[in-house]
Amino acid sequence: MNRRLYPGRDYRRAQSIDELRELARRRLPNFSFEYVEGGSDDEFTLARNRAIFQSITLQPRTLRNVGTRDLRRDVFGKPSALPFMVGPTGFNGLLTAGGDLRLAEAAARAGIPFVLSNASTSSIEEIAAIDGIRAWMQIYLYRTRDHVAKLVERVRRLELEAIVVTVDSAIFGNREWDRRNYVRPLQLDLRNKLDVALHPEWVWDVLVPNGVPRFANLGDLLPPGKDSVKGAASALAAELDPSLNWDDIAWLRDIWKGKLIVKGMIHPADAEIALGYGVDGVVLSNHGGRQLDGSVSAMETLAEVARLARGRMSVFLDGGFRRGSDIVKALLLGADAVLLGRAALYGLAAGKGPGASHAIEILRSEVDRTLGLLGCSSLDELSPELIHAPAWRAAAQAVAGHAPHGAGEAGSNLDGRRMPIDAFS
Ligand SMILES: Cc1cc2nc3c(=O)[nH]c(=O)nc-3n(C[C@H](O)[C@H](O)[C@H](O)COP(=O)(O)O)c2cc1C
Repeated sequence: MNRRLYPGRDYRRAQSIDELRELARRRLPNFSFEYVEGGSDDEFTLARNRAIFQSITLQPRTLRNVGTRDLRRDVFGKPSALPFMVGPTGFNGLLTAGGDLRLAEAAARAGIPFVLSNASTSSIEEIAAIDGIRAWMQIYLYRTRDHVAKLVERVRRLELEAIVVTVDSAIFGNREWDRRNYVRPLQLDLRNKLDVALHPEWVWDVLVPNGVPRFANLGDLLPPGKDSVKGAASALAAELDPSLNWDDIAWLRDIWKGKLIVKGMIHPADAEIALGYGVDGVVLSNHGGRQLDGSVSAMETLAEVARLARGRMSVFLDGGFRRGSDIVKALLLGADAVLLGRAALYGLAAGKGPGASHAIEILRSEVDRTLGLLGCSSLDELSPELIHAPAWRAAAQAVAGHAPHGAGEAGSNLDGRRMPIDAFS
């Protein structure tokens, strides 16, 4: 049944991430909402990131006393209050003033890590100063390596725990909706200009106080006066380096001794290689369906990667997580934790900082409820037997080191090379 979503404007009345999305859609000008929402090409991967969760059916246990439930998860040996964190997203200042700060504060309040995007409109220094923050910095390996080295030095000085290097964007995905909204690069067309005028609340929040938001961490990379989100696009595009390869990861590993996480791979063979370069973790990701259209969802290679990584590096993933049950399914398949992308942004756009907290709270309560309904008191009790779909269960069993569920056919999913693609129908 197609249910009617909450039609009002009070983010506190949103019952789900989908309802926050609707509020965000109403509050943001079209160009800004499409920027958050869109995928590449025909958006097949964007859709697959959501659809995949439907194929992972669950079979709960009952009568197990789930009177108390513990949602904590250790990430790099330190407790996180929840098994998910806020992932890196650029241009957050276009959703609300100080968008990165508001998101980071929400993450700190919830006791979960926050990953600051390289394309953020707040500086790492501002983020690091937030009380109780556990911040990680996401970087791109731009052509100007000197800039990258200086950024790494800033991260070191601030004693941040981790650097997340995104490797799926050396060539930019084809985002047609984005180009369609402009007559020239970053010059909105008339329709979108009029649409901005129809969103005075957003204009007062975002544009009036400080003008077009500025990139806060890229100062020395951009020509003087070109650090506004509007002015920097061409300079940044020229910095993308399609010759990126594993030597660059070795270089980064050499200059950064803290936790190093590679984000934006999805092939198990790449995860295997990453192990050889001494990285501490990977984020399996197709960039929210914004890069290669046709890519599988990270959920589909998760179990295989978790199996090969077990005890050697952490495995995170993102893409399409909108319900607590989605997060629990990833944990069942061996994820250490999940990164939120749009789910957190919908909350931020719908209700600023408190809206971001509301999004996190919705997902917290959904993870908690799912855990209880499955008959588990803690995340450690999640086990492959709770998955009903046979191919997915076999994949989860392989991660957990259980014997294959029967030989032959099921075994073919367990040889470390094939994934339960057949489970997706
Ligand atoms: C608006 C937006 C901006 C993003 N900016 C970045 C970024 O600056 N760096 C990065 O590594 N990933 C970026 N991503 C990708 C996200 O980190 C994440 O991989 C993706 O959003 C996950 O999919 P989901 O939004 O469906 O949860 C961005 C995604 C969105 C939607």
